[in-house]
Amino acid sequence: MYLWGSHLEGLEDFTHQFNKSIDFDKILFEEDIRGSLAHVEMLSKQEIISKEDCKIISNELKNILQEIKNKELEINLNEEDIHSFVENELTKRVGNVGKKLHTARSRNDQCAVDLRLYSKKVLGEIKEDILNLIKVIIEIAEENKKTIMPAFTHMQHAQVTSFAHYILSYAQMLKRDLERLYDTNERLDENPLGSCALATTSFNIDRFMTSEKLGFKKPTENSMDSVSDRDYVLEILFNNSLIMTHLSRLCEELIYFSSSEYNFIKFSGKFSTGSSIMPQKKNPDMAELVRGKSGRAFGDLFTVFTILKGTTLAYNKDFQEDKEALFDSVKTTSSCLKIMSAIIESLELNKKKMRESAELGYLNATDLADYLVVKGLAFREAYDLVGQIVNYALKNNLKLEDISLEKYKDFSEIFGEDLFDFIEIENSLKNRKVYGGPAEEAVKIQIKNLKKSLNL
Ligand code: ARG
Repeated sequence: MYLWGSHLEGLEDFTHQFNKSIDFDKILFEEDIRGSLAHVEMLSKQEIISKEDCKIISNELKNILQEIKNKELEINLNEEDIHSFVENELTKRVGNVGKKLHTARSRNDQCAVDLRLYSKKVLGEIKEDILNLIKVIIEIAEENKKTIMPAFTHMQHAQVTSFAHYILSYAQMLKRDLERLYDTNERLDENPLGSCALATTSFNIDRFMTSEKLGFKKPTENSMDSVSDRDYVLEILFNNSLIMTHLSRLCEELIYFSSSEYNFIKFSGKFSTGSSIMPQKKNPDMAELVRGKSGRAFGDLFTVFTILKGTTLAYNKDFQEDKEALFDSVKTTSSCLKIMSAIIESLELNKKKMRESAELGYLNATDLADYLVVKGLAFREAYDLVGQIVNYALKNNLKLEDISLEKYKDFSEIFGEDLFDFIEIENSLKNRKVYGGPAEEAVKIQIKNLKKSLNL
């Protein structure tokens, strides 16, 4: 059952249970067999094993792969890891020929190549999940370029924006997330196979051939680094943590926007749950879970940071602990991205309430100051004057648009009838057409650029 020699006594069951990783690395079966197929074909081409042996081994490896996929062959969870399982299963079937597969290879480069193949695969999947969410955001933005809402700083009413402008800010975060995934993929796209335990091998292996067969850009440059490098795992864990940070912030906002106090949005009944005691309750569980699951992603990142920091070159068994964290982070991030797309897609906006709320909190105070600047006042003077006017409005429970022109003139003779147009909420939005701004024409450019850069 063990891959190592008879000079060792074998492990007691308790120790074997402690040592093994097959319970979680079993999901790497396809990557492991792909790696072995490339390896055995290379051994044959380099005349390290015969063509006949290669044929027997690769045919049976393909059978094993197919049978696992078809659920005809169960992975034996008593083996130490997925590498041991595949090799032992092969040898069980083809006899001693199977024992030639591990020539010029170690589990150290084998588990490294498996993990890089897995990483490339899941990066592709997460990319799709992000792209999908960006598309859903663009759709809701396109429908809501004129949907006025208040924007906040310090969670206090600040200025006017549109729902499109607000939600598109998350598309920008996700676009950066996407770019980081491409960047990580570019760096990890090198083949560690052939590094063997740490110092390659005396056999004349061809690492360029296995790289090509496995779809890597090239072989890794240094064999010691190759078997102990887990930087790409950390990069994925960091990327996922940042994605989860963005989703968590969005969920936090949507959760309070859905409260009775804000009442800006409604989650679809499909993404809410009730209470077992309070019959009226509609709880935003899915959004809360996404927010909560960000904690798992950060935990996974710091698990691997902590595992790596004290390890010497080259391979140490500590590295086996990288997998559960990586798998958990990938599963968490991918499922959260998917649920987020579904949540946004089915979001109901209460445009009336958002519009009403935009009239509160003097969102157009900056516009009033800008009006005075247009009329010739220095901005700081205008700022002070508007401060006094807001104070007056607050005391008298008035909106800026409710104050009479005569009263405005008491504050300054500069004010004229046109001030009311200037501070109207719709105009406040329309006037902010600077590149990147909330006016409809600026938002259209944002959407156009986003679509273009993502080939949508
Ligand atoms: N299960 C091990 C891991 O995931 C495979 C490598 C074992 N190598 C060794 N030298 N014990 O890291």
